[in-house]
Amino acid sequence: MATRTPIYEGKAKQLFEGPEPGTLIQHFKDDATAFNNKKKGTIRGKGVINNRISEYIMENLTDMGIPNHFIKTINMREQLVYALEIIPLEVIVRNVAAGSFTERFGIDEGQPLGLPIVEYCLKNDKLGDPFLSEELIYAFDIAEPIELEEIRMQAMRVNDYVSGLFHGIGIRLIDFKLEFGRHYDEEGRSRILLADEISPDSCRLWDIKTDEKMDKDRFRRDLGDIEEAYQEVAKRLGVLPNADVTTFDTTKEKPAKKAAAKKKPSPKGKKKS
Ligand SMILES: Nc1ncnc2c1ncn2[C@@H]1O[C@H](COP(=O)(O)OP(=O)(O)OP(=O)(O)O)[C@@H](O)[C@H]1O
Ligand SMILES: [Mg+2]
Repeated sequence: MATRTPIYEGKAKQLFEGPEPGTLIQHFKDDATAFNNKKKGTIRGKGVINNRISEYIMENLTDMGIPNHFIKTINMREQLVYALEIIPLEVIVRNVAAGSFTERFGIDEGQPLGLPIVEYCLKNDKLGDPFLSEELIYAFDIAEPIELEEIRMQAMRVNDYVSGLFHGIGIRLIDFKLEFGRHYDEEGRSRILLADEISPDSCRLWDIKTDEKMDKDRFRRDLGDIEEAYQEVAKRLGVLPNADVTTFDTTKEKPAKKAAAKKKPSPKGKKKS
């Protein structure tokens, strides 16, 4: 099988050149990081689950008329997406106080915020993703006012839809992080598309009945049962793959199904990263 051209190796995903110009392959790894890369680990099967969850949500968003980068799933860990010019913003939407927000304002975790709050941070690990006001976003030429308006509107619509989706399966969407990018057409005109992923890596998800955390906070805070929490989210969404999600390794570019079916008690999947 032809080797692919790697474009970018991130903390949780890899990007490869896609089969057609203007496309990329997004590969979901099991690697997990927190606190700006200070804490590192592996959540077995996370890549497979996040690929499925993100695919499911992005497809539903498309159906709802919210444009995004997702084109199609390629295999258990990979999806084809439109190549975007990523706007270096972390767009955070908060429904309930949690995480750094509680520390910043001295609020108890779990306090509802009344209305969704959108915050912007600069996507820059070295600087610790500092906060940005709208004025700074314009002053630093990160986005134009019309683009930021579009980003904000899309983020609110995503929040409405995804909150409802999770509510229907007994999960509260506490907060989440989105990324957006510019998609250029042949005439060079750009439009804003939702990018990256929506998964338990990028969302805070609490069980409605028990307030139990079902997201990456289990890894950040050493709460245990991390794999189970990710699997439970996928299960409730009805997207959990039937096979053992911990065994899929497409870095060797075998068709995922065959690799799993033929699996002998063989060498442990060599992890590239
Ligand atoms: N459609 C897209 N086109 C181009 N780049 C994309 C697209 N979707 C996501 N990305 C980028 O791909 C990378 C995904 O990798 P990953 O999430 O592991 O990165 P990361 O380690 O979190 O680093 P970063 O701080 O850049 O997000 C991110 O840099 C993200 O901005
Ligand atoms: Mg990322």
